[in-house]
Amino acid sequence: MSVAPQILKAMENSSAIRKAFEAGIKLKKEFGNDNVYDFSLGNPDLEPPVEVKKAMQKFAASDDTGTHGYMPNPGYDFTRAAMAKKVSEEQGVSIEGKNVIMACGAAGGLNAVFKAILAPGDEIIVPSPFFAEYTHYCANHGGVLVPAMTNEDFSINIETIKKALSPKTAAVLINSPNNPTGKIYSKEDIKLLADTLTEHAKKTGRKPYIIADEPYRAIVYGNKTVAPLFPVYDASIVVSSFAKNLSLPGERIGYVAVNSACPEAELLCSAIIFATRVLGYVNAPAFFQRVISETWNAPVDFSSYLLRRNALTKILDDAGIHYAEPEGAFYLFCKVPKSKSGSTDENEFCSHLEKHHILAVPGTGFGKKEWIRLAYCVSEKTIANSAEAFKAAVKTW
Ligand SMILES: Cc1ncc(COP(=O)(O)O)c(C=O)c1O
Repeated sequence: MSVAPQILKAMENSSAIRKAFEAGIKLKKEFGNDNVYDFSLGNPDLEPPVEVKKAMQKFAASDDTGTHGYMPNPGYDFTRAAMAKKVSEEQGVSIEGKNVIMACGAAGGLNAVFKAILAPGDEIIVPSPFFAEYTHYCANHGGVLVPAMTNEDFSINIETIKKALSPKTAAVLINSPNNPTGKIYSKEDIKLLADTLTEHAKKTGRKPYIIADEPYRAIVYGNKTVAPLFPVYDASIVVSSFAKNLSLPGERIGYVAVNSACPEAELLCSAIIFATRVLGYVNAPAFFQRVISETWNAPVDFSSYLLRRNALTKILDDAGIHYAEPEGAFYLFCKVPKSKSGSTDENEFCSHLEKHHILAVPGTGFGKKEWIRLAYCVSEKTIANSAEAFKAAVKTW
């Protein structure tokens, strides 16, 4: 009787975010909430919009028979139709509800897609740095994640993608705005990626999917937008959720949308629906399928994230910590400054920051040593109060 060795190994290697989060809870108990600066977790601190709360009250009061019953595995038709409208608006090409599968968050959606497309040993290429959980989602289904390093500004480096491509490549997974870098991949880079994969398909006879993981699509700064993928590549899939834009991460509500132009779109959708069932999700939560069918386009003011970004970057500037300015999402990816003894080790620096009550996540899990991630979806007060701690931490490093 034991835990599987590969799970033990994965647990050991993947606990950085949770470790920082738990250290934060301990520190807060000892020193009080106001004296701990917890930038560990991407848990939005904005309240969900009032429209969401009103819809929750309305649907909670419903006595309609079958409200809490099983449903078809891909979700309610009316919710799928609403998601199809959303995705069609974002992508600029029309898709129908039958091409949408409701999911238990973006994480559930990615797992259903990976289960549907991965044969044992297949590979998924990801521009690196990347969301650390991808490694595990891929391994869950017998796949291997292949990181392809980005350029210095974290834009897609097409040469590293070309090098990573092989007959085993099942998909390229992109995440824009990116966690952890905040980078938005340009329209030109998306087109170049699409053309590269089309060429690869001609040579090898296997056309990899492009999967766009887009939970941060709505959270962009200035006049930035996220370029659509469907018009430039047919074998494409969008995975998203309402965790970040509507601040509903605990409700586990998301979706997968398959490009109507995708060869074998119908078969692929059936496979994702089957995967949703046999992974044990069965279907996405009924209550929140109802809620978001009416509130998916509720207006949200993201200006406070911009204010927080600007406040934290000013603090980092003053402390002498270099970072990549985020174009979207709510993460700051920072370069570890050189210590007096010459160290740029991200784990050591995170431990050092912890002594100053700052919780950050080492870049290792995201595929980038010597960098750390700060999630700034925290109160303005926490950010303002952290200024002296950052200065003191750098001075004593
Ligand atoms: C890039 C990325 N993809 C997927 C997820 C998972 O999102 P969800 O909570 O909707 O499953 C996250 C969560 O932080 C994320 O950052």
